[in-house]
Amino acid sequence: MITKTPEIILALDVDNREHAQKILQATGERLEWVKVGLQSFLRDGPDLVHTIVDSGKKVFLDLKLHDIPNTMAKAMESLADLPIGMLTLHANAGEEALHRCAQVGKEKLPNTLLLAVTVLTSMNQESLHSVGVESPVIEQVERLASLAAQSEIGGIVCSPQELIRLRSCLPSETKLITPGIRPTGSAVGDQKRIMTPLQAKQAGADYLVIGRPILAASSPSQALDDILCELQG
Ligand code: C5P
Repeated sequence: MITKTPEIILALDVDNREHAQKILQATGERLEWVKVGLQSFLRDGPDLVHTIVDSGKKVFLDLKLHDIPNTMAKAMESLADLPIGMLTLHANAGEEALHRCAQVGKEKLPNTLLLAVTVLTSMNQESLHSVGVESPVIEQVERLASLAAQSEIGGIVCSPQELIRLRSCLPSETKLITPGIRPTGSAVGDQKRIMTPLQAKQAGADYLVIGRPILAASSPSQALDDILCELQG
């Protein structure tokens, strides 16, 4: 079986706009996707999204919306004028919220792939238990992913460790996006359910979200090259 090479999404989690600019220049045209998360969006706002899109890249807006259905749906409407290719919601918000968001997505953000976040990759079995979820992580991920897919959310954010299981139970067109990527030797930090880029590719990821292994490297450009080389080789 030929395993397709997943695309890299650079998580632009940086302290200021200048650093963001420097990283974007260093990684250049090798990247098509940039993830703007809470740290950067709350500081730089929609202007950052427009700047990235104007430079020819696609933006994944990682706001992880999690609220009551009406508030989530209205929040999405507030984003309708932004050129975003992907947007995250927490699957934990439940079926009604996911349905409402899928509906708003179709009507107001037809070019945006909605992604449901399952169990954060910074959680392990112990931390999941500590918030009252007794199920094994894999079962909780599958439960949330199935709920999202039934609600017509087009993509799932999970750890690379759950890819094989999710591929076997989700519609084939569902996109699987995995943070928790750590090249051999790079600092794990707060991530718990991790794999290397090559392992995640072999498990069938569509996209790899990678931040600190590139951002914190002495040469972000070289770090990106090494990851691309690992994926292609
Ligand atoms: O630096 P690192 O590679 O750990 O960055 C991972 C990125 O993916 C962060 O921006 C984080 O917010 C995001 N993310 C995650 N786990 C999820 C969903 C998103 O780590 N389940």
